[in-house]
Amino acid sequence: MKVDSRTFRKALGCFPTGVAVVTTLDSQGKPVGVTISSFTSVSLEPPLVLFCLANTSGNLADFKASGHFAVNVLREDQRELSMRFAGRGADKWAEVPRTTWETGSPIIGQCLANLDCRVVAVHEGGDHLIFVGEVDRLEYGTAGQPLIYFRGDYAALGNTTLP
Ligand SMILES: Cc1cc2nc3c(=O)[nH]c(=O)nc-3n(C[C@H](O)[C@H](O)[C@H](O)COP(=O)(O)O)c2cc1C
Repeated sequence: MKVDSRTFRKALGCFPTGVAVVTTLDSQGKPVGVTISSFTSVSLEPPLVLFCLANTSGNLADFKASGHFAVNVLREDQRELSMRFAGRGADKWAEVPRTTWETGSPIIGQCLANLDCRVVAVHEGGDHLIFVGEVDRLEYGTAGQPLIYFRGDYAALGNTTLP
């Protein structure tokens, strides 16, 4: 059966994800950031995570060259940040609080969690590249709700209690 890409996208949209901004530095040391939902854990020991970046991303070369990235997990009130880093606006970084830790990748403030990673492998995956990183340092908060992406739109966690 040939899977058409529209149906494929719709089916994948049934799997809810969080939203993160992956960041690195370009060759001039300027911050770079892209909104992603393709973030997942890979290994506990060593601590590995991955994300997938489209071959068409204008920032692909920067992530390949720098050898490091940070994953900034967004809160539900950071939807504007998600939209900004999913676009090609002039100054994505205006008024975004940020710092750096071990690798130099931008660590965005007020996120649910931040993970500073060194690239340990890059795999081809169809029209994306899969970046695998070893986590050097991380921080997370126990308060706050995540920004969710579901069926092609933003969503929030419901307050329902599971049986
Ligand atoms: C919620 C959300 C999740 C996304 N997830 C990914 C992803 O996992 N990988 C990817 O390559 N692009 C993803 N995108 C699209 C990129 O954010 C978008 O293509 C961005 O414009 C790429 O910017 P660049 O070309 O400047 O790198 C996502 C967009 C949104 C809104």
